[in-house]
Amino acid sequence: MFHVPANGKDSRGSAPFAEPGAGVVQGHLLDFSDFDFANTILGTMMSKTKLTRSLCEVTLEDGTKEQAITYFGKDLSEDEHGFFIEHGNWQQDQDENKLSYKEVVDGLIGGKYKNIMVMTGAGISVSAGIPDFRSPKTGVYANLKEYDLPRPEAIFDIEYFVDKPEAFYKFMVNFDLTKHSATPTHYFIKMLHEKKLLFKNMTQNIDNLEEKTGIDMDMVIQAHGANRGAHCSKCKKKKDAEEMAAAIQKQEVLRCKECQGPVKPDITFFGEGLPAEFMEFMDPDMLKPVDLLIVMGTALAVGPFNQLPLLLKATVPKLLFNLDNTKDTGTVDFCTGANNLFVPGKCDETIAQLCKDVKWWDDFQKVLPDKHKETEEKK
Ligand SMILES: NC(=O)c1ccc[n+]([C@@H]2O[C@H](COP(=O)([O-])OP(=O)(O)OC[C@H]3O[C@@H](n4cnc5c(N)ncnc54)[C@H](O)[C@@H]3O)[C@@H](O)[C@H]2O)c1
Ligand SMILES: [Zn+2]
Repeated sequence: MFHVPANGKDSRGSAPFAEPGAGVVQGHLLDFSDFDFANTILGTMMSKTKLTRSLCEVTLEDGTKEQAITYFGKDLSEDEHGFFIEHGNWQQDQDENKLSYKEVVDGLIGGKYKNIMVMTGAGISVSAGIPDFRSPKTGVYANLKEYDLPRPEAIFDIEYFVDKPEAFYKFMVNFDLTKHSATPTHYFIKMLHEKKLLFKNMTQNIDNLEEKTGIDMDMVIQAHGANRGAHCSKCKKKKDAEEMAAAIQKQEVLRCKECQGPVKPDITFFGEGLPAEFMEFMDPDMLKPVDLLIVMGTALAVGPFNQLPLLLKATVPKLLFNLDNTKDTGTVDFCTGANNLFVPGKCDETIAQLCKDVKWWDDFQKVLPDKHKETEEKK
């Protein structure tokens, strides 16, 4: 961690903290040699609202210049403002050397990529009938008015939950994650594993749809936990998930017999630490084998999960199959950067097209259950 005084200078160089309209502010220069600190502070910052992100050029001690991502938030204390150096990739598009869809397809056909990391979010489960968080109108956040929350994220905020668990209990009555089936996108990930091309599927989803494809769950890192068990939000003791589910249906908050803390599912709320099996991958050395990144169905708004693409080598092609680019919501602008590629659209459709283009269509059909086979054949 390098402290940057208010004039924007630090021992390693200078950093113009130019938030539009805010002038120069104080902050920290983080680089990924100081992981624990970077993760903690970025995790805290990204869980807050009104966070804005911008780029600036930083001059390092040795005189080299690097692009850095800066974070500012109105809710943040001065100490939490910060910026960190991204691993390359901030050049504007140069049409002649920009990664193309055809290059990716050719690479897949030619066996160039052998360790594909797939990062997923709520968008890949939308076609299964589970709303995502941020889609306008249909997303969970757009439909929380009746809960009278200070901000939409509060419903999944640990401090708010401990204080007022009623809102979450009320919300969960109609947010039953057990009745849905996996989507073609989930089966595509399983197929990648069968082809021995999957590095890991890093998922923010808590719906366990990956498991329903029959994929080896060692290949899936559930970064925000899973909707399986339950525990006390205060003393963290394990609790009976069925008892909690019954309490949700009865609309009575289940409380811990030992400490009276409200019981919650084993999913990670804002303000809670992420599982160790995910945190071990917040390390460029762990991610070194990755030679292709596919990000699907996520706004990349939640940290530290959204830092993963930044830990990969700059030369790794990074693809986004999503309705929207994540430039404004997340950590990466997939429309810029020589190795980034944004393929807009519904991920089930993008995946089907990709399977056709890479000549994986028959293998894809084999892995799909009948229900989805018919859907694809009709297309
Ligand atoms: N299914 C679930 O388990 C579930 C559901 C809702 C929220 N969440 C939680 O949401 C949090 C993070 O948010 P997130 O980034 O995953 O979701 P998000 O709601 O913030 O973003 C969803 C993204 O998916 C895109 N999208 C929506 N439908 C799509 C489709 N059919 N094809 C392609 N893209 C589509 C949207 O454009 C958006 O960028 C996580 O912590 C996760 O635990 C999970
Ligand atoms: Zn307790």
